[in-house]
Amino acid sequence: MSREGTSSGVRQQIEQLRRELRRHEHQYYVLDAPEISDQEYDALMRRLMALEQEHPELATPDSPSRRVGGAPREGFRQVAHSAPMLSLDNALNEGELRDFDRRVRELLRDAPYRYTAELKLDGLSLAVRYRDGVMVEAVTRGDGRVGEDVTENARTIRSLPLRVENGLDEFEVRGEVIMTSRAFERLNTQRDQLGLPRYANPRNSAAGSIRVLDPGVTASRQLDFFAYLLMSKGELVEASHWGSLERLKAMGFRVNPERILCDSLDGLLGFIQKWEEGRDTLPYEIDGIVAKVDSIAQQVQLGWTAKAPRWAIAFKYPARSAVTLLENIEVQVGRTGTLTPVAHLRPVTVSGVTVSRATLHNEDEIERLGLAIGDEVEVLRSGDVIPKVVRVVTPGEHRRPFHMPANCPVCGEQVARAEGEVASRCINPDCPAKLKETILHFASRGVMDIDGMGDALVEQLVDRGILRSVADLYQLTAEVLAGLERMGAKSAARILRGIEESKKKPLPRVLTGLGIPFVGERTAQLLASEFGSMDALMAADVETLQNANEVGPKVAQSIRLFFDGAHNRELVERLRAAGLQFTHAVEKKAGGPLTGKTVVVTGTLPALSREEAHAMIERAGGKAGGSVSKKTSYVVAGDKAGSKLEKARTLGIPVIDEQELRRLVGADPAATGLGEAAGE
Ligand code: IVH
Repeated sequence: MSREGTSSGVRQQIEQLRRELRRHEHQYYVLDAPEISDQEYDALMRRLMALEQEHPELATPDSPSRRVGGAPREGFRQVAHSAPMLSLDNALNEGELRDFDRRVRELLRDAPYRYTAELKLDGLSLAVRYRDGVMVEAVTRGDGRVGEDVTENARTIRSLPLRVENGLDEFEVRGEVIMTSRAFERLNTQRDQLGLPRYANPRNSAAGSIRVLDPGVTASRQLDFFAYLLMSKGELVEASHWGSLERLKAMGFRVNPERILCDSLDGLLGFIQKWEEGRDTLPYEIDGIVAKVDSIAQQVQLGWTAKAPRWAIAFKYPARSAVTLLENIEVQVGRTGTLTPVAHLRPVTVSGVTVSRATLHNEDEIERLGLAIGDEVEVLRSGDVIPKVVRVVTPGEHRRPFHMPANCPVCGEQVARAEGEVASRCINPDCPAKLKETILHFASRGVMDIDGMGDALVEQLVDRGILRSVADLYQLTAEVLAGLERMGAKSAARILRGIEESKKKPLPRVLTGLGIPFVGERTAQLLASEFGSMDALMAADVETLQNANEVGPKVAQSIRLFFDGAHNRELVERLRAAGLQFTHAVEKKAGGPLTGKTVVVTGTLPALSREEAHAMIERAGGKAGGSVSKKTSYVVAGDKAGSKLEKARTLGIPVIDEQELRRLVGADPAATGLGEAAGE
């Protein structure tokens, strides 16, 4: 394989990086115990990818770089399973579980036996084959006998090892591919922003994500894999199921920790009850528990029916849905002016909780569900807290279709829906609904942390015309507060203290607090490090903004639009006058090698992310600039550098690469940059 001229040094470096990445993946995705930051991990990955690109002869299918998704495919190959992938028989209540247990006891002729009980994860099953320790094939269940080859996509699942050191020479692992509730919510939020229909549940989106033709898409979906079966040459290995799970764990697979070994049906029933009550605390959805006779010898003795093993059963939890009447659809106005339709339901109990409201997200979602007021609908409570309407059960006789109002239900101003967006928004910047939400958001924990500034107070302050913008918070006095209902001197003092304290909150919090559409906590953080000050950010054009790390055209435009508004500019100036933090204090080395120098980073650097390079520059006493001007001292250019590089050339500004930057700041050019990035 090796091409003449590949130095063994490069080979060693690549191997070393792969080993490190594998170890960190296992720490992070399997053990949930990361040792390095995401940025550090990304830096290692970028370095590996750069080396592999330079030396394609050293690429291997088990390299962690394959996690990011290769080239799209034309279709999926059909693959026969080594042994049928059957499903499980269900027990829907205690009686059916007792029947199952009785059958097991009879077939085993009263010999002692135990059950392993596990969670029944709500995803899709996948069979993954390894040869000589390397993942070679991943196949979906399909019809149970023949499935689809989704190997390239499965490689992007970080909790699925691409290589196993202490395995058997040839083996197959079966398990469940899932999407966590968080990844699911994030995906749907993204889809809203792109104007695409939402996925109905994490199971569907996991299934959809594993069956896309472009592995890059699968990679972006952040799926997870939990192993529950280990086979070799079509047979189960190990003497017990529990032992097999332990072995899988030792081999580096993610095995669900919520499992027990029980001697009796009572133990099983306890486990079932525990997770029926506790399922909301899990970061993913389950639809029941699975009980398996633990001894593999006894499993063989019990055997299979044509459909399912006789040694296992799935206890299914009752669906957490109910059918009720959709009485009305009300429209709420949020902070960014987004109009959200909310279902008003005839109150109904869904697994112990009374539900009378459910979010409908947006107009398209209502259309997708074919909902009209007066319909009988199914309401579902899933892992998260907000119930949702999932379908129409019976269309109402006198059903009334829903239309997004043309005017804001709060201020009466016009409502607009931008092209390509699913959200309709109230265009009035002074809409009181927006204002209340904006103030609550600004004052909330994690943003400006103004203790005591809750719903009731904001409502009064806005309704009485005392607060017309968040800047008015900084004009509040003890006298004004004293004039409000239910406001003692003590609470007033606490609120004023909170307002005073908020002036010390760092720039990323202020940026988050402004409520610029699409600028959340993380983006605000990135923008603050990238631009260093409110002024630099306000001055940046769309192109400069777009060159910032993780900022796409939509976010860039939204920021520009925000700061172009006279109203918003005035707000910012008033906040400045109030004494809020408008610069981002980055630790600088006094008299460092880059003191007095402005350095602009552009394009993709081989090992450092944009943020890491900026942090490196700032620690050396320099200023990390957002755009190139005559005052720029250096431009650090990486791969795909565009207009900034061109501008540097026209202006005659020295252009350097990452290595040169490291030399300038006095870092070891051979280092991966990890030491520099740490401590963020
Ligand atoms: S064992 C022959 N264990 O539930 C045994 N299945 O209806 C095969 N599932 O197709 C399955 N969690 O997709 C097993 N801990 C678990 C499971 C599990 C979820 C799924 C799996 C299977 C279906 C059974």
